[in-house]
Amino acid sequence: MEGIETLRQWVKESDNIVFFGGAGVSTESGIPDFRSVDGLYHQKYDYPPETILSHTFFMKKTEEFYRFYHDKMLVSGAKPNAAHLKLAELEAKGKLKAVITQNIDGLHQLAGSKEVLELHGSVQRNYCQKCHKFYDFAKMQSSAGVPVCDDCGGVIKPDVVLYEEGLDMQTMNKAVNYIANADVLIIGGTSLVVYPAAGLIDYYRGNKLVLINLSETARDDVADLCIHGRIGEVMSQLE
Ligand code: OAD
Ligand code: ZN
Repeated sequence: MEGIETLRQWVKESDNIVFFGGAGVSTESGIPDFRSVDGLYHQKYDYPPETILSHTFFMKKTEEFYRFYHDKMLVSGAKPNAAHLKLAELEAKGKLKAVITQNIDGLHQLAGSKEVLELHGSVQRNYCQKCHKFYDFAKMQSSAGVPVCDDCGGVIKPDVVLYEEGLDMQTMNKAVNYIANADVLIIGGTSLVVYPAAGLIDYYRGNKLVLINLSETARDDVADLCIHGRIGEVMSQLE
């Protein structure tokens, strides 16, 4: 595939790689993305992602929110794919500094990555809205419909950043820092249309910005190297 040789070279030479990714990183693990034509929204939802995953929607249409959430976010048995594994390997080798992800599926950690910045939260953490009791992934998975608190009956909310909600500033600052100081920035599996997350890539100051995405993205023009392909396949060709 065109461009892979350049990518191999850049990765080989660098010990300061940062990765920034999105839903496309997990499609090869069987978790559908959001905006592809065969993505989840096009299949069976009447609302766009920005609506279903909004704070207002969660509060007003909690049942519909959880119907979607069970489908998309609580995919059981999903395993890290070649992209997750290669990133963990590059970190272990001291070449990659951090994975910055918009995903909430926890697959980077499962693959062994240590420094993972989750811009949009995680399905692993959930809290009762009333008494703030903590609940894990298993509890959410086992509850049909709207999950409620064992202690007080309050509705449980995932620790996931919904539209209309703010991102964690500490995580954002760390992400900016990693990106601003990165030698190679690899961006993959994201349409780059959701802000403020997508805006983070503008902090990169180097000249080795790699974009690996199946389809064209909103920002193909800023890439020094653009590879259109499946990220698991591309990453598995790296040393
Ligand atoms: P999108 O669904 O918007 O974009 C995923 C991109 O990955 C698309 O451009 C696909 O072409 C590409 N893609 C799919 N499979 C791929 C593969 N195997 N290899 C390479 N590329 C692949 O997902 P995000 O950009 O992550 O927000 O969306 C950003 C945010 O919108 C999400 O974090 C979520 C959503 O609403 C919240 O949950 C707050
Ligand atoms: Zn409670």
